[in-house]
Parts: sequence; structure tokens; C-alpha cells
Amino acid sequence: MHKIKNKETVTGKKGLKKNIDYWMDTKNWWGPLVFILIISLAGVGMIGFQTYNDAPPMTGFRTQDGALLISKTDIEKGQIVFHKYALMEYGSFFGDGAQRGPDFTAEALHQITIHVNAYYQKQFEAQNGRSANDNEQKVIAEKVKQELKKNGYDSAEDIVVLNDAYVYALEKVRDYYQNVFLNTSRESSFPLKNYITDKEEVLNLSNFFFWGAWVCVTERPGESFSYTHNWPYDAKAGNTPTSPVVLWSVLGLLAFVLVCGVVLYFIGQYNQLSNKFFKPASKELLTARSVRDFTPTRTQRASYKFFLVAIVLFFVQVSSGFVTINEFVDYLGFFGVEFSESFPITISRSWHLMLSLYWISTCWIASSIFILPILAKREVEHQLPLINLLFVLLVVLVAGSLTGMVLGPMGFLGDWWHALGHQGWEFVDFGQAFQVLLMLIFVLWGIVVFRGIRPAFVKGMPWNLPNWIMYSIIGIPLLFISGFVARPETNFVIADFWRWMVVHMWVEAFFEVFITVIVSYLMVLMGLVSRNAAIRVIYFATILFLGTGLLGISHNFYWNAKPVATMALGSIFSTLQFVPLILLTVEAWRFKNMPRIALEGVKPSELGDFGFPEVFSFLIAVNFWNFFGAGVLGIIINLPIMNYYEHGTYLTVNHAHAALMGVYGNISLAAMLFATKLLFKTKKWNKKLVKVSFWSINIGLMLMVLLDLLPAGTIQFKAVVDNGLWFARSEEFIGGGVFQSLTWLRGIGACLFLFGGVIPLMLFIVSRAGSLKRSQSSDKSLIQIARHDTI
Ligand code: HEM
Ligand SMILES: [Fe+2]
Repeated sequence: MHKIKNKETVTGKKGLKKNIDYWMDTKNWWGPLVFILIISLAGVGMIGFQTYNDAPPMTGFRTQDGALLISKTDIEKGQIVFHKYALMEYGSFFGDGAQRGPDFTAEALHQITIHVNAYYQKQFEAQNGRSANDNEQKVIAEKVKQELKKNGYDSAEDIVVLNDAYVYALEKVRDYYQNVFLNTSRESSFPLKNYITDKEEVLNLSNFFFWGAWVCVTERPGESFSYTHNWPYDAKAGNTPTSPVVLWSVLGLLAFVLVCGVVLYFIGQYNQLSNKFFKPASKELLTARSVRDFTPTRTQRASYKFFLVAIVLFFVQVSSGFVTINEFVDYLGFFGVEFSESFPITISRSWHLMLSLYWISTCWIASSIFILPILAKREVEHQLPLINLLFVLLVVLVAGSLTGMVLGPMGFLGDWWHALGHQGWEFVDFGQAFQVLLMLIFVLWGIVVFRGIRPAFVKGMPWNLPNWIMYSIIGIPLLFISGFVARPETNFVIADFWRWMVVHMWVEAFFEVFITVIVSYLMVLMGLVSRNAAIRVIYFATILFLGTGLLGISHNFYWNAKPVATMALGSIFSTLQFVPLILLTVEAWRFKNMPRIALEGVKPSELGDFGFPEVFSFLIAVNFWNFFGAGVLGIIINLPIMNYYEHGTYLTVNHAHAALMGVYGNISLAAMLFATKLLFKTKKWNKKLVKVSFWSINIGLMLMVLLDLLPAGTIQFKAVVDNGLWFARSEEFIGGGVFQSLTWLRGIGACLFLFGGVIPLMLFIVSRAGSLKRSQSSDKSLIQIARHDTI
């Protein structure tokens, strides 16, 4: 009996060991990665094909008698006006864009519905000499739904034929927008008064909104639902969830539970590995003493100016967020400060968004520059001029594009608005010339990194840490190419596909891989994990992030006029995006205790203190927000049926803030503090200040989420379910008591974030400009640090 038991344990262990050994061997790594890339690229290729093939026609409208109402060019012109004035930074189209103003498609659809209804009510009165009673009104309401759903597109003529009721509604939609944009005496708490003053431009804009509403409601040929799967929810227009929306939500959840089980099974095995596997030799811990003794090289010293600019940009970014929200709640008015309308919300919001990308990527560029000599174990020649050129280009990009984003929408650039001003695409706002400049910056960054890292490459070892850094840096500009495809007049549905190819693929796939590489590398450098453990974590994370995140892009296309297959892919793969993030919590305990584990069995007197406790807290925060902000707050809006009601509400704003700042903001600050701690003279370091900033930023962010964004999103979600999206985004709702009060509460978190976190940190980094250690000519210190990264 005893014997048998023993035998079982032995074979069990053997099986386990064999399994792990197989996956621990880097020779077996190509297959799964290539497989995942092929499947994902094929899937994304299919979505791209469908985007073009199944796009709703961007075409004109005529009456039944043949009179032209709107030409195709009118709609294109309207879309151009939409972009030129950056209206995507005020409201949204197909739910994509800013969430504080109206969703123009839902709003126009609501206008159409009430006016088609009014038309038939009037017709009834004319025919019967009295108004319709309750029952008759219900019959009319049904008729309205049916008429709106009927697709009048004539493919031979390439034009949509509208009946008289629809024609009447079109006139009313035009009147509505003339009133919104041009009536200066209108009482309204929504901003953007006196913003567009040209009647012709407003007319074309309303034609464009009318087209968008038509796409949302009219049936896709051969289907019983609209091009947008009946999004936005508006029961009076007949827009209610379809059966595929419900079905794919259930199947998405099923896939999620199944895959979770399988992955946790393998992780269970992996976790049998003892701490020894993760732990490097204790003597490698980067102690307070080695931090003090470190002397930077010239290029490492040159990275400081990037960090300085980045932290100032962070401050400007957060401040422009304040300005944006102030337009709606007038915080400053309460304190007697009047902020004029001369800085429209479209501009401050674009600054807020683009600056987040700028300061975060500046930190990444700077930290890679800092790390390069450590990787190479020496200073590579002629890097300094390239690094300085990179800095100059970055400054030109930031200064030029921020100015362009002001001048373009205000009309000062004339026809140059697209090239030099504001392209009008949320997250890709800057003028196209600056987009080209950013591409050049990425390429130059790639060159600097390649030159600096080359000495660290080892032939036949493609999975080493330096290689991973190179791979992830190549991925970033590669996807940015997608941002160049669309033109201002390109069918919105097609152009938005390319925009998400940049935004989604960056934040939810490649950046995730990039930061896993950076976190792991910092951990190796700090002497907390072994290099072997790090590259394995990176590999598995890459498989999971790319395997789910690339096809997960389809959750951004549920309502963007794509066929059912896209929704099916989205429901499955994007739900699985949560799996790698759950794994972070499985590993959280070990992660949190890394500094302790690294010290296991060593007397502190032999070794000294761990040198980077503050930086390490930021890394823990990255893990926390990856799970909570990206994962939990992402998954609650991810299933098609949830997203159907949620899309375009504050639940998206909630997720975007928690994930972008929580994950990428914190990792950027971690990288900045890692480098500056080694750069500043030791006695000039202020541990307490960094700690206070850390807690202020992270508690501040959490308070913004809990006091405003999450509850506001939740009540707005309910408002959608009760009354339709148009209402939940109307002035009546957004300007109403509850929503406004919650925005006021957000001020608590925001003030803590800004005054307790960002400003002290900025003053700290900026004021240390004269306190950098001298650079060194010998590579001794580098080699000392680099021993943590024995390749
Ligand atoms: C660090 C990782 C992530 C970041 C930085 C991030 C950030 C963002 C951003 C900026 C948006 C666009 C918001 C807008 O249009 O205003 C977005 C949308 C979205 N994200 Fe994420 N995300 C992350 C991970 C995830 C994950 C893991 C999931 C799913 C589990 C997810 C689900 C979604 C969904 C469904 C939307 C679309 C919401 C809508 O427009 O209705 N995200 N995310
Ligand atoms: Fe996404």
C-alpha cells in the first residue's frame, strides 16, 4: 500500500517535470508563437476585408420623385467639417469619440424618429380631422419603426431613395443642427457655442449626421437588423438588441470559462516550481550601496532631459483634463475664476489625450536610452548625437503639434488644417505632418536601440532579453503605419478600422508585451528575478497577450457596421484578453514578496538594503491596475450585450482612465524613477516625496474611479436601458443633478492626484537638474550593474 502511493507520487512528479521541461526549453517556442501570429493575422485580415466589402454605402439621398436631397460629395464634405473642427473630441459618431457631448448618430436618429412620427400624426389629422387616440398612436409608432428599417438603397443608381416622411425628418434634422451650432441666443449648458459659424458647413455636417443615423437604423441587405446590429439602443426607432448579440455574449462567456480552466491547470504546474527558479543569486540584489556607487555614462546622463520634459508634459496633460471638465461643471467659476470660451473643449481634450501618449512614450524612449549601456556593458560610439537629435525631434513634435491642434480647429490654418493642424481622429489628433514626424522618431529610436543593443545579441539565442526589447520596439512603428491609410473623406467605417488598428493594437496588444519586457528587465536589473525566469514570463505573456489581443480588436467593431462574424470573433477573443490579467493575480503574492524572497537566507548586514523600494511600489501598481483597470473594468463592458448598451457611456471613460494611467502611466513613472535614482546624487534623492506622490497618484486615480467614473457610468448605463442612448448623452441627462454632482466629486480624486502627486513629482525631477552625478569614462560601474544581467 505504502509502496504504491510512493510510486504514484514519483510518476506524477515525473509527468509534471516532463511537461514543464518541454515548455521551459526555448527550442520549442517557435511553433506556438508562429501559430498564434498566423491565426491572428488571418483573422484581422478577414475583418479588414469585411470592413471594405461590407461597408455601408457612403452615398447620396433623393426623393421618390428623383429630386436630389444630398449628394455623396455633400456627405464627404460634412465628414470633413466633422474632422476639421475636431468634433470627435466633443461628441461621438457610432459611439466612438468623446463621451461628454452627444453621440451625433444617436441624436440624429432620435430626431429622425420623432419627426417621422410627427409627419404621420399630422397626416392622420389631415385625413381624419382629429388627432390620433392612444391605440392609433401605437399603430403609427409601429409604422414608423418599419419605415425606418426599410432600406431604400438603390444599388444600380447608387443612391438612397427616401419617402416623404423621411424627407420631412431630414429638413428637421438640418434645422436642429442649425439651431445647435448657429443660434447664439440659445440657452444651453453644453459648450461649443459660436464654434462653427458657416451655415453651409453646418448644413453639410447635418447631412453627415443624417447619413450616420441612416446607417444605424436601416436594415443591412439580406438581414433583419441594421448595418450596426441595431446599435444605438432606441426602442422607438426599432433599434433593439439582435439575437446574434445575445447568442455571442453567451458563447463568449463560455469560451472564457473554458480557457480559464485550461490555463489555470498549466499555471498550477508552473507554480510547482520553487522560488529558487525565480530567484537570482542573492549577491546580485541591487542595494542602496550599489545605487550610490553607480556613475552614469554620457548617454545615460543625456536621458535626464527626456525625463524632465516628460514630467512637465504629464503636468500639462493633467491640467488640460481639468480645463476640459471645467467647461461642463465650471469648477473655477465656483472660485470666482472665469475661463473664457476662447479655448474650446475640443482643443483641451485633444491635448489631454495626445499629451498622455507623448509623456508616456517620452519616458519609454528615455528609459531605453538609459538601459542600453547596461545591456551592452559599454558605451557605444556616436550614440550621443543621435540621442540629441531624437530629443530635438521630440520637442518639435510636441510643440508643433500642440500649436497645430489649437490653430487648425480655430480656422487659422485654412486648407492646411489636415496637414499641420488637427486631423480630427481621437487618439490620432495631430496634423499629418506631425504623424510623419512621429514615425521618423520611432524609426530613429529603433536605430538608436539597435546600435546600442547590438553588442548584447548572442548568435543563436533569439529569446534573450535584449532581443525581446528589440522586437517590441519594432512592433510599435509597424502598427503606426495603419494610421496613414485613411483620408479625411474616406468612408467613416473604413477609416475608423485603421484608427483602431493603431489604438487598440498598441494599448491592448503590443504595449502590453512591451511593458512585460520592461517590468521583467527592471526586476532582473534590480536583482529580484533570475534572467531565466524573466524570459519565460515574457514568452508566455506574449503568447497570451498577442493570442487574445490581436483578434480582440473586434470588440471595437461590434457596432461599427461590420457583419456578425466580426462580433463573433470579438466576443470570444476579447473576453479572453482577461485571462493573462487574471494570471497576474495568481502571481501577485510571489511578485509582491520578490524583494523578501531575493533576500531569503541572507543576513541583511552582509548585503545592505534593497535599493529601489519606491520604484518597486510603482511596479506593483502596474500589476494591480492591469488586473483592475484593464481587466475588471474592461471585461464588464466587453461582452456584446453589455457593450451594446454601454458603448459611448462613462463606463468606457472609466475603463480608459484606469487602464491607461494605471498601467502605462505607472510603468512610465517606474522607469523614470529607476533611472533618475541612479542619475541623481544620492543625498539629493527624496524618498518621502516619491512615496507621497506614489500614494497620491494611485489613491487619487482610485477615487476618480470610485467617486465619479464608475457610478456615473452605471447610472448612465441605466439611462440607456430606460430611454435609449440619445437620452443618456443628452444635455438634459449630462447636465442633470446626479451626473453633475458626481463630476464634482471627481474633483476630490483629481486634486489629490494633481496636487499631492504630479506637482511634487514634477518639482522634484525638475529641481534636480543641477544634481546629476558626473558621467564616467570607464565602464566599470556599468559592468557592476550589468552583472545582474549575465547573458
Ligand atoms: C492596459 C490595457 C488596456 C488599456 C490601456 C486600454 C485602454 C482603452 C482605451 C483608451 C479605450 C478607448 C476609449 C475611448 O474610445 O474613449 C478602450 C476601449 C475598450 N477596451 Fe480597453 N484597454 C486595455 C485593456 C482592455 C482589456 C483587457 C479589455 C477586455 C477585457 C478591454 C476592453 C475594452 C473595450 C470593450 C473597449 C471598447 C469600449 C467601447 O468603446 O464601448 N480593454 N480601452
Ligand atoms: Fe480595444
